[in-house]
Amino acid sequence: MAWDSLIGDVNSYFVKYDITRDYAWNFDHAPESNQIDAAPVAGEWAYCGVPVDSPLGIAAGPLLNGNWMLYYSALGFDILTYKTVRSRERASYELPNLQPIAWDGGEVPTELSVASKMNGSWAVSFGMPSKSPSFWRDDVAATRSHLDKGKFLCVSVVATAQDGWLIDDIADDYAQCAKWAAGSGADGVEANFSCPNVSSVDGQLFLNPTDAGIVAAKMREAIPQTPLLLKVGHIENREIAHALLESVAASVDALVMVNGVSAKVRQPNGGVLFEGP
Ligand SMILES: Cc1cc2nc3c(=O)[nH]c(=O)nc-3n(C[C@H](O)[C@H](O)[C@H](O)COP(=O)(O)O)c2cc1C
Repeated sequence: MAWDSLIGDVNSYFVKYDITRDYAWNFDHAPESNQIDAAPVAGEWAYCGVPVDSPLGIAAGPLLNGNWMLYYSALGFDILTYKTVRSRERASYELPNLQPIAWDGGEVPTELSVASKMNGSWAVSFGMPSKSPSFWRDDVAATRSHLDKGKFLCVSVVATAQDGWLIDDIADDYAQCAKWAAGSGADGVEANFSCPNVSSVDGQLFLNPTDAGIVAAKMREAIPQTPLLLKVGHIENREIAHALLESVAASVDALVMVNGVSAKVRQPNGGVLFEGP
C-alpha cells in the first residue's frame, strides 16, 4: 500500500516515520534537523524538578535514536524520551510494525480491524528492539552534548529476562540499564513496566506491585541522583493501582501514563496482523 494512502489526517509538511519501511530503515533515516526555527514557549517549567523550556514532550517510541531526538528537539519539543533500550541487542519484529486501525473510541475490544487511513489510532508492534548498550550509551552521550540546557533527555529502559531469572535478576538488569543511561548523561530514566506487545514478565510489571517495588528500589539505588520515572499501563483494578503506588512511591519521582492497551488486529482476509503476542 502506498505511504500516501496511509497517512490520512496525520499528513503534514514534516518528515516522519515511514510505516511502509522496517524499523532498521527508519532508524537509519532520521530527518535532517538543521533547518527549523521553533517558537519559544512562554513561562517557567520544570520536569521532575529539572528546569525545562516547555512541557512539550514526546513519549517513548517515535524517537528511535539521537538523530530523531535532535530533529524533534529542533521542532520545539523539550522533553524527549529515547525509545526503550536494553542490556543486549534485540531485533525488531518484522513488518508491519505500525498500522492504522478502525476504532471510534470507547472501550477497546479484544479484536480490532485494520483501516486503510490514519483516523486517530495506531496499532503498534515492535517488540522493543534495542541496539547494543555500547551503541546506545555513546549515542545518548553524543545527543546530550548537542542538546541545549532547557531540554530534558530521558532514556526509557527495560530488562531482558533470561531463562531461569528471578525478580532480583530482572531488577539488576533494569538497574544496570539505568546506570548506563545516567552515566551517559541522561537527565532522567524511565523504566518501562508496561509493554503491550511483549508477553514476558518485564512487559507486565505494573500489574505486580510487589515485583515493581523490588525493581524500582534497585533502580533508585543504582541512580540515586537522577530522576526515575515508571511507565505504566492501564490498570482496571483500584486495589492494584493503590498497591503499586504504595510499593514504588519511595523510589520513584513520577509515573508516566499510560502505555497502549493490548488487542488483536484482524486483516480483511480474517488473518491476525502481527506476529508478536
Ligand atoms: C511508534 C510507537 C512506538 C512506541 N514505542 C514505545 C517504547 O519503545 N517504549 C514505551 O514505553 N512506549 C512505547 N510506545 C507507547 C507510547 O509511549 C505511548 O505510551 C502510547 O502511544 C500511548 O500514548 P498515546 O495515546 O499518546 O499514543 C510507542 C508508541 C508508538 C506509537
